[in-house]
Amino acid sequence: MSGAPALQTRALNLPRHVAIIMDGNGRWAKKRLLPRAAGHKAGVDAVRRVTRHARAIGIEALTIYAFSSENWRRPEEEIGDLMGLLRLFIRSDLAELVRENVRLKIIGDYHRFPGDVVTLIDDAVSRCSANTGPILAIALNYGAQAELVRAVRRLAERLSPEQIDAAAIEGELETRDMPPLDLLIRTSGEHRLSNFLLWQAAYAELLFVDTLWPDFGEADLDEAVAAFGTRNRRFGGL
Ligand code: IPE
Ligand code: IPE
Ligand code: MG
Repeated sequence: MSGAPALQTRALNLPRHVAIIMDGNGRWAKKRLLPRAAGHKAGVDAVRRVTRHARAIGIEALTIYAFSSENWRRPEEEIGDLMGLLRLFIRSDLAELVRENVRLKIIGDYHRFPGDVVTLIDDAVSRCSANTGPILAIALNYGAQAELVRAVRRLAERLSPEQIDAAAIEGELETRDMPPLDLLIRTSGEHRLSNFLLWQAAYAELLFVDTLWPDFGEADLDEAVAAFGTRNRRFGGL
């Protein structure tokens, strides 16, 4: 059985927690002479594809960057389009998430979103709350710096300075109930973190791919996971 050891190695090296900066929707649309909204719509199809595939290959937790705390700088119309797509996504995909035993989680201050979207999100999270399977965390109005500021402020209220350590901070992060971040992928050829999971990325493997998010599919996730499997993580040791 020549293939068996390789398969086994790959399974052993499967990242537990993968995060994705889903970038390039606008450029995807532009290349096709379509409005940016069409790129975002195609981006939602990619979300569906990739989240399904992540579950299929056994990734325990997937965190996707859908709206950053800086994305409010975009034109109002585009923000409206993104809110519309979020509404559509929840309406069309929630039943599947419930059925597939997905633990849905939101990171970021989504309470700044329109009231009806907040209600939809809260309802979606509560309908998944009895689930016990893979975690899907969607970052909405998320910014890592604000997350850290909130965490440290909360700690400062109840701890003295010398009691505030890395473990204490980690316990206040929105990802506290998730496995450590193993692999962080950014699509579209940009090489930056754009305020995503700054603390959590400390020892994550980073992977930057040129593929635009709407073109990202099952094979791209497989490739990313395979690349992760070949990385030698030393965590400061030898
Ligand atoms: C990522 O695609 C989606 C969001 C930030 C909501 P972009 O909209 O940033 O696409 P580009 O970077 O302009 O191509
Ligand atoms: C990061 O992409 C945010 C999301 C993918 C939601 P951006 O397109 O907003 O990032 P910048 O502006 O290029 O850094
Ligand atoms: Mg972008």
